[in-house]
Amino acid sequence: MNFDFTETQLMIRETARKFAEDELAPSTIERDEQEEFPHEAVKKLGELGFMGMMAPEQYGGAGLDTISYLLAIVEISKVDASCGVIMSVNNSLVCYGINEWGSEEQKQKYLIPLATGKMLGAFALSEPEAGSDASNQRTIAVRDGNYYVLNGTKNWITNGANADVVLVMATTDKSKGSHGVSTFIVEKGIPGFSVAKKEKKLGIRSSDTVSLSFLDCRIPVENRIGEEGFGFKFAMRTLDGGRIGIAAQALGIAKASLHASLNYSKQRKAFDQPIAAFQAIQFKLADMATKIDAAELLTLKAAALKEAGKPYALAAAMAKLYTSKIAVDAALEAIQIHGGYGYVREYLVERYLRDAKITEIYEGTSEIQRLVISRALLKD
Ligand code: CAA
Repeated sequence: MNFDFTETQLMIRETARKFAEDELAPSTIERDEQEEFPHEAVKKLGELGFMGMMAPEQYGGAGLDTISYLLAIVEISKVDASCGVIMSVNNSLVCYGINEWGSEEQKQKYLIPLATGKMLGAFALSEPEAGSDASNQRTIAVRDGNYYVLNGTKNWITNGANADVVLVMATTDKSKGSHGVSTFIVEKGIPGFSVAKKEKKLGIRSSDTVSLSFLDCRIPVENRIGEEGFGFKFAMRTLDGGRIGIAAQALGIAKASLHASLNYSKQRKAFDQPIAAFQAIQFKLADMATKIDAAELLTLKAAALKEAGKPYALAAAMAKLYTSKIAVDAALEAIQIHGGYGYVREYLVERYLRDAKITEIYEGTSEIQRLVISRALLKD
């Protein structure tokens, strides 16, 4: 077992760290306050090759491995978890999905601009009545010659307002249940496609989360990914990888919480000494660091299995379940260590808590991760 990163992985981590500190940090608080999408940062992330990190170079990607990708998301999310999820959705769900299962024409037309950051992608699975119960798709796509006619509503879609293309899961044959769902690449601006509602959220407020509405949208048959009926498996397999991205985002928030707590506890004095001199604070820091290390190992394991072409759905579910939990815990402890300062918006740690909470909800709630894990344990 080797715990060393390669030179490339270290270089990517350093590039992401520098980008986050130079380009994101100065405006993160304001963008959170204003709920403002980081257009300029996303453009620059594209130029750095960070919007299609694992996509092959021939399709505009950076051709990097999953560990490099994970390290980049951690560094970005330490400073700006909204940017972390924007990146994660485009990389893990959209680019990965098209690269793995898309046709050559789809890769030429969509993957190249998505991986180079010229286009932004979104992934539309969730619906008003299909969150955890994802196969209960009410959005329908009815074949009409060389087109499908798409009707329905999608909810809580990250990147939805700013996306140029959306991967939409829809029922093509209700009688077949989860085997009757298909995935379509839907372009922004086609007649009948509209952004219905922008959500006002607790955290990750500079990423956009919207409802999308499809009213008699005509989608060319060549925009279906894979065979008719492959859509649910496409979504599940894509989300297995997405969960590594969200675990990395949570890890970034947890690390930021620890970093802020270490700095603050060395500076803040009470009873004539820095609060770091008190065992009550020291033990909090020790627990945070230990949990972060365990979470990092789980997340790296999931990424390494994926990279090695081995089954990784179970490891990804464990990584997301544990890392999202310790991110919330770490943010709460950071607030406690900061005392009254931790509760005000001038300090960063209250945002860490607001941003961390969503990692226990999207790309499969913690309850769904436990379901995936326990089903795997009880399978035989
Ligand atoms: N890989 C491959 N195939 C899979 C799979 C996986 N990970 N998971 C399930 N399948 C297959 C099953 O093998 C089964 O196939 P067969 O019928 O051929 O045997 C089929 O899919 C149906 O599976 P289940 O019977 O397990 O389906 P289910 O209805 O019980 O649901 C579930 C399973 C795990 C609960 C699933 O619905 C799920 O993951 N729900 C959560 C959805 C989710 O994560 N949503 C996130 C939205 S996207 C998002 O959040 C992005 C963002 O904006 C940040």
